[in-house]
Amino acid sequence: MSAKIISGTEIAKQIREELKQEVQELKDKHGLTPGLVTILVGENPASISYVTAKQRTAHDLGFHSVQDNQPEDISEDDLLNLIKKYNEDTSIHGILVQLPLPKHVNESKVLYAISPEKDVDGFHPVNVGKMVIGEQCFLPCTPHGILEMLIRSGTETSGAEVVVVGRSNIVGKPIANLMLQKREGGNATVTICHTRTRDMAFHTRRADILIVAAGRPKVITADMVKEGVVVIDVGVNRIGKTPEGKAILCGDVDFDAIKEKAAAITPVPGGVGPMTITMLMKNTVQAAKQSAGLV
Ligand code: GUN
Repeated sequence: MSAKIISGTEIAKQIREELKQEVQELKDKHGLTPGLVTILVGENPASISYVTAKQRTAHDLGFHSVQDNQPEDISEDDLLNLIKKYNEDTSIHGILVQLPLPKHVNESKVLYAISPEKDVDGFHPVNVGKMVIGEQCFLPCTPHGILEMLIRSGTETSGAEVVVVGRSNIVGKPIANLMLQKREGGNATVTICHTRTRDMAFHTRRADILIVAAGRPKVITADMVKEGVVVIDVGVNRIGKTPEGKAILCGDVDFDAIKEKAAAITPVPGGVGPMTITMLMKNTVQAAKQSAGLV
C-alpha cells in the first residue's frame, strides 16, 4: 500500500492563513506590524533561495520585511555592528542571519549577538537552554515545523519509538529533545543516530517515526525501515539541474521505494521546507506580540 503523503505545503498554507488573520488584527487593534530582517552574507545559491522564500512569505503575510545583503568579505565587527543596529531598531522584532557564514566569521559569536527576544531562529543559547528545560521560548523553526506536521497529521507520538538520524544543532539535537518532553507531539522514546553509529539499520528498523536529517541524498533505503513507519525527511539535496536551469531536489530517504512500505511520508520538495519558513513567521509574530506586552 502506498503511504499517505504528509504535505508540508498544505499544512503550511493553513498556518499561514491563521497568521495572516492574526497580523491583520495586530495592525487594526494595536497598530503593530511584525518586522523581520533577514541578513544574507555572500552569494551561496541555496542561501539566496531560502532567504528569498522567507522574505516573500513575510511580505505576503503583511510583515514589515527587510532583506539585508552583505558582501562575502564583510568583517566580523561590521556584522556584529549590523546586528546591534537591528537589536535597537523597534520596527524589527525578528532577526535572522542565514547560515552558513563565511569561514572568517565566528558563527557562534554572531548568533550570540542577536538579542534573545529577537532570536526568531531559536539558536541563541538562552532560547536553546529554555527549550531543553521545557520553558516558553522561540523554538528552532525546522524542529518546530516537524512537530506541527506530526500533530496536524494525527501521528501518535506518545510512547512511540522515534529514531532521529543526524545530530546537528539546527535539527537533530533539538527535535530529539522536543520529542522526549512531556508535551503535545512529545512523550516519545528517542534514539539519535549519527555518522559514528555502528549499525544504523538496526535502529532505523525499530522506528515507529523516523526523522532523517543526514544531509546526504537517499541514505535511508527501503530495507532500513519497517512496514507502517512514519517518515519525516528533512534533507534537501541538489542533485542536478533541469534544462531550464532549475535545481532538481531530493531528500535523504529513497522516497519512491519507502512510500510503498510507510504509513506516511513527507515529500521533498513540499515537505519540511515550507514548514520551516512558516514557523519562522509564527515566531516573528510571537516576538512582535511580546515586544508590545500582548503575551
Ligand atoms: N541555514 C539552513 N537552515 C537554516 C535555518 O533554519 N536558519 C538559518 N538562519 N540558517 C539556516
